[in-house]
Amino acid sequence: MTDSGFIVAVIGAGPAGIYASKQLTAHGHEVVLINKDIKPGGLAEYGIYPAKHKIREGLRKQFRAILSNPKVHYYGNVEVGEYGDVSLQQLKGMGFSAILVTAGAQAGKPLGIPGEELRGVYQAKDVVYHYNLLPPFSRMPMKIGKKVAIVGAGNVMMDLARWLIDEKQVDEVVAVVRRGPAEVKFDKRELETVIASMNMNILQQEIDRVSPVMRSIGQDPDAAMAYYQEAYENAEPHSSPTRFLLRFLCSPRKMVANDHGIVKELVVEENSLQQANGGTKAIGTGTYKTLNVDTVILAIGDAVDEKLGLPVTGTQFVGNPNPTYPVEGISYEVIDFAAEKSTKGIFLAGWSRQASTGLVGTARKDATNAATAIQAYLTAEGVKPAQGAPDLLSTLEQLLPHRVNYAAIQRLEEYEQTQAALQGLVEFKLDSNLKMLKVIRGGE
Ligand SMILES: Cc1cc2nc3c(=O)[nH]c(=O)nc-3n(C[C@H](O)[C@H](O)[C@H](O)COP(=O)(O)OP(=O)(O)OC[C@H]3O[C@@H](n4cnc5c(N)ncnc54)[C@H](O)[C@@H]3O)c2cc1C
Ligand SMILES: NC(=O)c1ccc[n+]([C@@H]2O[C@H](COP(=O)([O-])OP(=O)(O)OC[C@H]3O[C@@H](n4cnc5c(N)ncnc54)[C@H](OP(=O)(O)O)[C@@H]3O)[C@@H](O)[C@H]2O)c1
Repeated sequence: MTDSGFIVAVIGAGPAGIYASKQLTAHGHEVVLINKDIKPGGLAEYGIYPAKHKIREGLRKQFRAILSNPKVHYYGNVEVGEYGDVSLQQLKGMGFSAILVTAGAQAGKPLGIPGEELRGVYQAKDVVYHYNLLPPFSRMPMKIGKKVAIVGAGNVMMDLARWLIDEKQVDEVVAVVRRGPAEVKFDKRELETVIASMNMNILQQEIDRVSPVMRSIGQDPDAAMAYYQEAYENAEPHSSPTRFLLRFLCSPRKMVANDHGIVKELVVEENSLQQANGGTKAIGTGTYKTLNVDTVILAIGDAVDEKLGLPVTGTQFVGNPNPTYPVEGISYEVIDFAAEKSTKGIFLAGWSRQASTGLVGTARKDATNAATAIQAYLTAEGVKPAQGAPDLLSTLEQLLPHRVNYAAIQRLEEYEQTQAALQGLVEFKLDSNLKMLKVIRGGE
């Protein structure tokens, strides 16, 4: 592919940003890939459960091939945003041909109930980043008690349950699920990793408890139980003393503190179910129950980072519902409310386009589509190729002297691989930016 002369800034080197870089360079463009973390990979590096070593290593291999392309200029350790190292406005003014935001969804989605700010209450991502050793979460004191409630019934809840059961070996984990057994979002494969810690008689009692509600909307409690039985037959064996419970049809309403300001109770309202919009909706019954817990983790999805400098409503950046360059009917464009059209040259992909949606493969497809939308924009609008790519890169170098390039990442990876081999570990990760920078700068 010949050089197009275009330079695209991609913000965020998770799966979406990396796969978008691959596609953009395939169109002949140069890519400046800016990433807040020192290491690339996003949630593939710092989210996917640590025991899934094969999947993580497979992804790293693909990422290495993409990041080694000389057309991809990696800028790690650089945060874009209002209070970051460089703002979106600054980047816009530098002459990039287009900007693609693939910064994921970094903020927690609040429940909006009293007591949410108490000690002992955590957002799922903070805990996930902690056990996956992402600085600074890796070093944050995280006081996990003995009786832990996790709110939510997705795969993130399952990953957290697995960590609490296998690594922390707490006494009890209870998943607080607002709808019923038929509406859980976790995969059976993930259930199999933890179901050995469930007492199937207690699960049967819980399904019996909610069966009148299920039957009232035509659901079959026996089919629901059969799903868990099948998973139980394929349970991954483990030897943790932790009890794992699912508590269906209840929504958190309040958290109460002990004398030290640490959560001691989660008050839930029991729910009924109603059919709505082809699915079901939880409706509070006015009956409240108190769960005695000392830790609560919210695994109810994420929100995008408002500090990035794009318009936000709820948990999402606002896309233009009437895009100029749709791909497969999807808008990858950001709204400019004042002008009532797309913000020129700025695109979204991955979890920045749809927070907490899908696996790595989904992010890959989305990023590839976004690169197609950018290509259509560059061609149709007669965007002029950037004048002087070397000038743009040297402006960035001066502005961001602390940035980490890809050669530095390769040195860091080599060091970590050597440490893993020396210590007989499957994987070794440095857990602070200081340590990583020391290795990168040759101090180790
Ligand atoms: C706990 C958990 C476990 C998961 N397990 C699996 C699994 O087993 N298998 C699977 O296929 N999928 C899994 N997923 C889903 C998968 O991780 C996501 O689909 C995917 O990572 C989304 O990619 P992304 O690039 O959009 O966002 P992210 O992966 O979040 O990447 C965002 C990147 O942007 C950077 N960034 C953020 N803010 C800024 C900023 N202001 N400036 C510059 N850079 C910034 C970050 O440093 C990060 O590198 C899991 C998700 C979670 C939360
Ligand atoms: N192992 C893996 O492959 C893996 C691991 C982790 C994550 N992922 C992927 O990453 C994505 C995000 O996962 P996720 O678990 O964060 O999200 P998710 O699958 O959307 O699950 C979120 C859960 O939170 C509940 N919830 C949302 N708002 C709530 C509220 N206000 N009160 C109570 N409950 C609430 C939802 O219930 P309702 O259904 O009632 O809305 C749902 O059970 C998914 O695509 C997932 O598959 C994959």
